Amino acid sequence: MSAGWDADRYQRQFGFVSGMAGDLVELLGPRTGEVVLDLGCGTGELAASIAAAGARVWALDSDPAMVAAARGRLGDDRVLLADGHAFALPEPVDAVFSNAALHWMPRPAEVIGRVRAALRPGGRFVAELGGAGNIDAILEALGATMAEAGLPAPECPWYFPTPGQYATLLEAGGFRVARMEHFPRPTPLAGGPDGLADWLTMFGGQLTAAVPASELPGVLARAGELAAPRLRHDGRWVADYWRLRFVAVAGGEAARPAKLHRQMAGDRDR
Ligand code: BEZ
Repeated sequence: MSAGWDADRYQRQFGFVSGMAGDLVELLGPRTGEVVLDLGCGTGELAASIAAAGARVWALDSDPAMVAAARGRLGDDRVLLADGHAFALPEPVDAVFSNAALHWMPRPAEVIGRVRAALRPGGRFVAELGGAGNIDAILEALGATMAEAGLPAPECPWYFPTPGQYATLLEAGGFRVARMEHFPRPTPLAGGPDGLADWLTMFGGQLTAAVPASELPGVLARAGELAAPRLRHDGRWVADYWRLRFVAVAGGEAARPAKLHRQMAGDRDR
């Protein structure tokens, strides 16, 4: 994650992000003595639960406030301040875990390359991220609001792939895809009537960057009016999250360049 986070507020108001991922840790199935990396660890809550299961955990985040919070949980020497597109670890790991972080990393092939390099052969990559369709209703309401106000269309800063897109990247990066799921996860937001505005304030800074500060409250209120028919249920805001969840296994060798793959396939067919 990298957005100049307020880690305390994130934990208080958006702790559900980790709270909803307990079964992702179960899917990882950390074992005693294993070495596991949590990629995009945020405040380190899930990394701590992986450590509590007996694994030796490395954690990594690109945001200094998140790293400080995670170090409070895991210790200074286990948490690295680094970019998911360009990191290296002091030792090979048995598994890489990631929750709600990969969609903040816009160059997935680079990330997958770093993950493959971090894993021992046969190691597993277990992750969940926003998938295609994620927060469409929020983005559409904000886009319509900006258009009404004569403001430039917001550009989505996140990467929400389809299962096919991500599986293709994993395979090209030297992984076998053992499991890939794409499913809706309607997600209640904290904050009562301000829940959607709070969410946009916490996460949507890049979407609203072109809005003059004096107009921002009006823009958030109007986006709420437009989003309410789809996202307000029984007085609660429920975000239209879609998740992509996968398990991939690192192949025995680092991925070969595509040209070499083609040559080898040609050799076989001859
Ligand atoms: C998500 O978890 O889907 C998400 C969180 C913040 C911004 C965008 C997406």
